[in-house]
Amino acid sequence: MLLAHLLQLRGIESVVLETRSREEIEATLRAGVLEQGTVDLLNESGVGERMRREGMPHEGVILRFGGQSHRLHLSELTGGRSIMVYAQHEVIRDLVKARLDRGAPLLFGVKDVSLLDLDTRLPKIRFHDAGGATCELACDYVAGCDGFHGVSRPSIPSRLRQDFTRIYPFGWLGVLVEAPPATEELIYAYHERGFALVSTRSPQIQRLYAQCNPQDQASAWPDARIWEELHARLAGGDGFKLTEGRIFQKGVIAMRSFVVEPMQHGRLFLAGDAAHIVPPTGAKGLNLAAADVRTLARALAAFYAEGRSDLLERYSETALRRVWRAEHFSWWMTSMLHRFHDESPFHHRLQLSQLQYVTGSRAAATMLAENYVGLPFGDN
Ligand code: PHB
Repeated sequence: MLLAHLLQLRGIESVVLETRSREEIEATLRAGVLEQGTVDLLNESGVGERMRREGMPHEGVILRFGGQSHRLHLSELTGGRSIMVYAQHEVIRDLVKARLDRGAPLLFGVKDVSLLDLDTRLPKIRFHDAGGATCELACDYVAGCDGFHGVSRPSIPSRLRQDFTRIYPFGWLGVLVEAPPATEELIYAYHERGFALVSTRSPQIQRLYAQCNPQDQASAWPDARIWEELHARLAGGDGFKLTEGRIFQKGVIAMRSFVVEPMQHGRLFLAGDAAHIVPPTGAKGLNLAAADVRTLARALAAFYAEGRSDLLERYSETALRRVWRAEHFSWWMTSMLHRFHDESPFHHRLQLSQLQYVTGSRAAATMLAENYVGLPFGDN
């Protein structure tokens, strides 16, 4: 949706195919943290108005361990950069509205999508529309923005791509709670019983997570167990108290790191989860997708406006530099903050030492902060 929007601003036509319904994509709960660069991109492209009104800018983030909170002053450490808490489905709503307001093509409920002739100058997309009619779109380029389970990545012959994967031995139980915020800033907590995260969605709704077994069903987590775990993992001598409320949604999220190289094949360009997955600990997934399509939109604009194909040829290399930085950061945050079941007391001491270092050393805190708010976009 963001790519189509950026292209339209440059006068480049596209058709967006979506397998789900508008209601579904506008209601599906996903990420919540926007990096500075993503905020800037939405503002500069004219879809930031509601985000500026309803989003919650955060200038700091809290790491909690040993029963104490340690605040990292993000904007002070990064020369004024910060994050915005604004849910991904709200970004989606803004983009859907922008597209429909302009009367640009966006097809919901399409099925059976397949990609053809990707290594020719006239690739095609075949699909069934919501009414069941068989359709074929011929185009200059295909942007594969269809997620980890989409058809785009498998359309690249396996001998021409390399997959890099890490599966983590834990998941996150995520809940939505009707309660006022217990904290003004996000809390990432490391505890012997496992990781916990206190995030927010609005002044009335809080988003909480607890490390769990990745095979757990949400039904293994009755409300009482959730509160007991969260209270225990966030306890401390400083009097911090999580505010309880009605839990109205629960789900278990698996954790993986994944990258495919290259992110391009012929006239197909992959972006977002179709090309890479990060564990949610660094809050990077949505932001990486936004960075990918920013790069792709600029490369396509250079092609159409100036006949230059060098940026398109370098797309994969350019995008992967940022992807691997975020992969490393997300893996590092995940490793620092979770309990591993095979973990030795030695490993536990190393994690505590690392946490003390990133909260005690300005140099180490800056490293975390600049990755967390997102590195500035390089010129590509
Ligand atoms: C969220 O609010 O959903 C959230 C926040 C920070 C993360 C991951 C998820 O690192």
